[in-house]
Parts: sequence; C-alpha cells; structure tokens
Amino acid sequence: MKKLTSVVILLFVVAGLSAQNHTPVYLDNTQSIELRVKNALSLMTLEEKVAMCHAQSKFSSKGVSRLGIPEVWMSDGPHGIREEVLWDKWSGAGWTNDSCTAFPALTCLAASFNPEMSKLYGKSVGEEARYRNKNVLLGPGVNIYRTPLNGRNFEYMGEDPYLTSRMVVPYIQGVQQCGVAACVKHFALNNQEVNRMAINVQVSDRALNEIYLPAFKAAVEEAKVWSIMGSYNQFRGQHCCHNDLLLNKILKTDWKFDGVVISDWGGVHNSDQSVNNGLDLEMGTSTNGLTTEGISPYSEYYLANPFLQGLKSGKYSETVLNDKVSRILRLIFRTTMSANRPNGKFVSPEHSEASRKIAEQGIVLLKNEKQTLPISAGKYKKIAVIGENAVRSMVIGGGSSSLKVAYEVSPLVGLQKKYGKETIQQSLGYSSGPYVYEKEVHSKLNADSLITAAVEIAKTAEVVFYFGGLNKNNFQDCEGGDRKSMALPFGQDKLLSELLKVNKNIVVVLLSGNAVEMPWLKDIPALVQSWYLGSEAGNAIANVLSGEVNPSGKLPFTFGAKLNDYGAHSFGAISYPGEGNNQEYKEDILVGYRWFDTKKIKPLFPFGFGLSYTTFEYGNITTDKNIYSENDFIKVSFALKNTGEVDGTEVVQLYASQPKASVVRPSKELKAFDKIYLKAGETKTVELQIKVQDMAYYSEKTHSWVVEPGEFILCNAASSADLKSSIKILVE
Ligand code: BGC
Repeated sequence: MKKLTSVVILLFVVAGLSAQNHTPVYLDNTQSIELRVKNALSLMTLEEKVAMCHAQSKFSSKGVSRLGIPEVWMSDGPHGIREEVLWDKWSGAGWTNDSCTAFPALTCLAASFNPEMSKLYGKSVGEEARYRNKNVLLGPGVNIYRTPLNGRNFEYMGEDPYLTSRMVVPYIQGVQQCGVAACVKHFALNNQEVNRMAINVQVSDRALNEIYLPAFKAAVEEAKVWSIMGSYNQFRGQHCCHNDLLLNKILKTDWKFDGVVISDWGGVHNSDQSVNNGLDLEMGTSTNGLTTEGISPYSEYYLANPFLQGLKSGKYSETVLNDKVSRILRLIFRTTMSANRPNGKFVSPEHSEASRKIAEQGIVLLKNEKQTLPISAGKYKKIAVIGENAVRSMVIGGGSSSLKVAYEVSPLVGLQKKYGKETIQQSLGYSSGPYVYEKEVHSKLNADSLITAAVEIAKTAEVVFYFGGLNKNNFQDCEGGDRKSMALPFGQDKLLSELLKVNKNIVVVLLSGNAVEMPWLKDIPALVQSWYLGSEAGNAIANVLSGEVNPSGKLPFTFGAKLNDYGAHSFGAISYPGEGNNQEYKEDILVGYRWFDTKKIKPLFPFGFGLSYTTFEYGNITTDKNIYSENDFIKVSFALKNTGEVDGTEVVQLYASQPKASVVRPSKELKAFDKIYLKAGETKTVELQIKVQDMAYYSEKTHSWVVEPGEFILCNAASSADLKSSIKILVE
C-alpha cells in the first residue's frame, strides 16, 4: 500500500502536479524548492526564460504571468528602503506612502562591533523591504576600506576582513528571515569610485583571498545569501559583472553559491561574457532605446534579444540559460512564493528604537581630556551649537543609498530636547551647498560672514558643540566620485582655528564615513566620531554626549594622520587612482592597520580604538593549552574589570601574529572580539575561541590556505595599538 502511494505521488510529481489537490508542483509550497524550480522551468518557453534574465524596469524584472510566477522587485539598500522611482527613470515616483525609517550607515554598524546589532539591523530593514513588497534588498556592502578617499566607504564595514565577515552574516540572516533576499555587493574589488566603470584592478591571489573576499565568502557560505551584485570595475581584464574567475570559478564552483548574480546598474558590457561567465540577471544597462519611443529598450539588453537569438542559432547553450533561470526561480520561491513569508512592517516604533540603539552602539569617543564629556543636562546655561552638520539632512544624498524618510532628528533638535531650547544658540559656521548627484554646487552664503557669526556666539558660550565632518555631496561621502583630499572640506579647519581663539571648550563631533585630517586635534578637549546615523541621529548623539548612554563603539578603520600614510597611497598613481584604466594594489595584503603596524606608522587613531566614560583593566591572557595541532580550537581567557565609576561596555579584541614565517605576515591580525557589559566595579572572565586554521595564510604556490607550524603570539587588546598582554603558543 505504502509502495503504491509513493508510486502515485511520483507520477503526480513527474506530471508536474502535487498529490493532494492537483495543483502544479511549482505552485505547491509544501514541495521542496528544487522540485518547484524544476517543474516551473519545464513549463516555460524559451522567450519566457530569457525575459527573466534582464530588467523590465529600473528596479524590476519579469516573472511569468501566464504561470502566476511573480516579478522580482528590488530596492536599495543598504540603510533603508529607497523611495519608489518611475518605471524607466531614477527620479522619484511621487508616492506618499514610501517614506521609510533610515538606519545608521554600515560604518556605524561595523563600529558597534556587535553582531547582535547587525541581526537587529537586518531584521528591521528586511521588515521594511517586505512591507513595501520588495523581494531583493540591494545590500549590504562589504567592500574593504583601502583608501580614505573612497566616496562609498560610508556604505561599507571598514578595513578588516574578519570584522566585516562577522558583521555581514547576521545582517543577511536578519533580512532573509523576512522572506527578502539580501544582495551582498559589490563583488568584488570596487574599492574606489573614481573611474569605477573601467578601472582594471590587478591584485595578488593572496590579497584577494585574505583581504577582499572573506566577507563575500562568509555571506555565501555562512549566511547563505540569496543574491550577490557584481561590481562595476574590471578584475584582471574582465568586468566583474561577467568575470569568469570571480563568478564561475570562485563564487559558483568553489563556494557553491546557488543564488542569483545580479549586475550593478549599467555594469554589463558584453553578451558572450554575460551569457557564459556567470551573470544571471542584467539590470540598469542604458540602451538608446530608453529614449526611443515605440521600442521596448529592455529587449536590447545584452541578456535580452542578443541572448535569445544566440540561443536560437545554437551559439549559446540552453543549459546555461536554464541555470540562470533556475537561480532566479529559486530566489522567487525563497521569497515571494514562500509559504513562510511574514508580513513585515514599516516605520514602526520598534524600527525607530532599533535605529537609535544601533547608532548609540556605533558612536566612537576618540578624545576626552579632563572628563569634558559627558555633559549632563543642567550643567551649562549657555551652549553654542556650531557647524552645518548640526542641521543638515544626512539621509539624503550619497547616491543610490539616498533615502526619503518618515522623519530625521537632527543633532540640533536632539541637543535642544536634552539641554533645553533656551540654553542653545546655533550658528552654521560654514556652508556646503545643496546635494545634487554627480554635480558639485557651491554654497552662495559668504564664508567669512558665517565664521564671524559663529565666533560671536562661541565667545560667550560655556561650551561649544561643533558638528562638522563630511556630508553626502558629490566628492564627499558619495557614490560616483572620490574625495579630492583627506582634509576637512568647506573651510572647516579655518573655522575651527577661529573658534579656538575665543573658546577652548569645544567638543568636536564629526559626522562622516571616512577619516579626515585633524590639524586642530591637540587644541580641542573632546572628539566624537559620529557616522551618518539615520532617523534617530540627534537622539543617539544627545544620549551619548549627555552620558545617558556610555559610548562603546570602536573604529572599524584606521584614522591615519595624512593620506600618504596609507598603503594604497604609498606607491604612486598606479596603486591609486590608477594609471589610465590600470591599477595595481601594491600594498598587497597590508591594508589598514596591517600596513600601519607593519610599517610602524603612527596613526591619529588606530583600528579598534574607542574610549568610554569608564575605564577597564585587562588581566593577563591565558590559553587552554600551549601546543596545538592544525585542527584544534584555541580557548583564550582573561579577566576584565570595570575600574571606573559608571557602568560601561568594552569591545575586547584578540590579535594573532606569527613572528617567523616563510612569507610576509602582518604584524598582527584581528581573530576574535566580543562586547562585554560590566557594572561599575564589576569583573568578568572573558572567553574567546579561535580555530588554529584561522591563523592560516593563503599560499600562492599551492592555491590553498596554509597553517605554517611554529610559534604564534596571541594578544588581548583594547585596540590594534593597545595590546594588554600576550602569550606564545606552538602549532605543530
Ligand atoms: C550602485 C548600486 C545600487 C544600484 C541601484 C548603482 O549605481 O552602485 O550599489 O544598488 O545603483 O541603485
């Protein structure tokens, strides 16, 4: 009897019908995704399949309406759900119900060093995407911070492959648990905006594997991301959206990625390569058709008519087409057609709270002489708030991550709520001009008059809160171009030196996604690195400045003193920004603190650095054994005490090094971290664990990861430059 039932079920499946209700298998969400994919594919025509492989509008691609298979709808990403745009254009569609919650920039998330915040972030932004009926969220971004000039660093997670990997996984899991595909981007080596469409990156296999790929690998292998976006640039002579090595070999063969490779918008240049080198879904290509009436421009895409014709003539194989379509169907079954898709929510109180919490955990206290901070409410009666960034919207601008938000609390409003409106006088001090994408529009306000007005209120204030840094204008923290220098823009250094002449009690709060030069650093008592914090910016900043929240963020990238201190800028134009279209990453694996440490260059503020309103004492590091073999885990422990008077949270870090090795090894590398909350006076034992294999290097000879036996040193540390104690271990 049992045998008979299975035979009947099998017959139904073969016929494409499910046993219970005679619905086709692909529509039956109790069936496995792989069966549904196979069944749907078998019912589609060649034309229907090809139509799924390219855009039908700015942000969507076709389903198969005849079969009830829905379209794919995508949205930027990564800091909130972008406003609806017109079918064929970038401009807003003018909807009145698409104003979202803005979450902090990913640099802030990385600075939290807290994977739980990343999960909360992913879940919250995923719920907003789901509510808006998007099934792909175009983010997160995990390109590595190689130069402080990169206009898009604010959208990424810093310079360290380990930190980035640990933070990207929960973000993706959070998004995907909402039935929305994350689309990790930009794969790979899109580490600058200047000449991004053409620059041809040459980088060693070792640096590729040790520095630039780990976060993508973690996204695929650990988080099981459902889609990935190819990058604009070339790698070893081929554009990354159709790069055989990156997509076919590394992503799909080595990492066994079963999701969809989506092109960046306009990143596709060639039909043969798009068909054969691993691209699945072509988006954003400009065709002349876009301006020609009566012609459907999307049919001119590289993966549209040219693909169809090539299939018909036998130039392209249908197996390749079926693979692409299977991946797209899989994504649809995982999202829109999944049985377990929750409903999502939009601009909920929970999302505001999540946004504020993440912001508070990512703000970094960089300097605090004589306990200038915190400044509790009531302490001062005359407060000056100076700087354009106190009042400027930071959710708008920056390129594709620009958001239309339900609300945004500015730093000024946050401080007014905290300290009372009557205590605060405000002045712009400098002005940058409006945000216009791909254009630099200067302010019409007179710079000298702005300085005079600011100095006037600074003179009599008991404290000055200075809000400066960069913004989301072109050539600042913005897609499409890089910063032109590492200095603060819009005359801020001059403004600060004038303010310091009349008032020494200046708390500088920098809003940026990049490091800046700070010629005034020694003259100010307190400095806070705030990122672009989203809807709750002002509340989070005020909570930290007033001491309601004790800062616990740490820098996810090195703040060098000057541009030429960075590895990428130490080898001339060929290394940055490239000579013509050619670029060589000459610093190789020595990116970020790996460069500064190994070359003994003192940064302004090191990777992993951040102060608290309390102090912590680290005990000596111990390990569970002295001698390990390749497949072992190393258990590390040490005591951590809060030695100050207030409760606080410390990000403890574990670095490893191999002093004697047959290849160059960085002077140290981050291998573990944790965020530990301690009440005033409390002590806890911190326990961290790493695999011996995590200390391997990538061998160019064997094309594999190698743990070279010998002595390793492990250090517990409060930053990459503040090592507390060390222990030697032996790997046999
Ligand atoms: C960006 C992507 C973005 C896409 C769609 C491109 O310009 O590089 O990150 O997702 O546009 O807006």
